[in-house]
Amino acid sequence: MPYELAVEEILVKFNHLIREYRQSGQYSPIEKVQGRVKAVTSILAKAARKNIDLDHITEEIDDLAGIRITCQFVEDIDKVVEIIRGRADMEVASEVDYVHNVKPSGYRSYHMNVWYEVSTIYGKKRLQVEIQIRTMAMDFWATVEHSLRYKYPSELPKTTAKKLETAARALYMLDNVMSDIREEVVNAQGSFQDQTSVVTDIMSNLKSLHGGKDENSDAIANIQEEFYQIFYSGDYEALKDFSARLDRLTAQRKVQELK
Ligand code: GTP
Ligand code: MG
Repeated sequence: MPYELAVEEILVKFNHLIREYRQSGQYSPIEKVQGRVKAVTSILAKAARKNIDLDHITEEIDDLAGIRITCQFVEDIDKVVEIIRGRADMEVASEVDYVHNVKPSGYRSYHMNVWYEVSTIYGKKRLQVEIQIRTMAMDFWATVEHSLRYKYPSELPKTTAKKLETAARALYMLDNVMSDIREEVVNAQGSFQDQTSVVTDIMSNLKSLHGGKDENSDAIANIQEEFYQIFYSGDYEALKDFSARLDRLTAQRKVQELK
């Protein structure tokens, strides 16, 4: 149960980080976060494989709680690592950089093991959580390779292994090409977020005009019509101008109502 609590808490925290970035109009280095507590069958299999006494599972197995963070770009991984290193509620126990030191299998990811404290009915408990940070391309490869390992538990057929290697190289190249256009994507996401907040402002102003004392529905209908036209024209600068004009108009109305 404490491991479930840790995973749930950490998911809430990282998802909130994503929301904070997006709501403040910034690009989020975290695209998606997932978590799981290791299934009992996997725990037993790992204990058997590594000769771990069943009484010492919590000390010997450090990935009972697992978090996976997916990023759009390789550069985002460094940013996420910095965020985790700087958190007051997580203490880094170890780090392994499989992004630059690719495993012989072709696996790439950044691994961090952190100490995390939860409060349970029995009091505080400090436990280890494994955090895997990778790009979507790395995640794609790891997921496919993982499924294949289930299909071929002993050894992958030579041709399959070769194809996986080719795929790993292709995905590595994909990550590099994506890095080259990262700036554009980051800026585009920023302006999309801006647009969302401009539209939200416009909506709230329109709403307050509707609710005004001396409501002039023709005038408001005209303003609304103008908004639709500008919105569908896709002219973001015009939308910002419109929003500023509407801000002034709404403020004037409020002053008039006070008189
Ligand atoms: P574990 O017994 O798996 O914990 O080995 P380890 O402690 O040496 O850890 P390692 O860093 O190699 O791997 C930890 C986790 O990373 C694994 O449980 C997987 O989730 C993932 N991983 C590592 N290597 C591979 C790989 O080659 N393929 C895939 N799909 N995942 C891997
Ligand atoms: Mg491990």
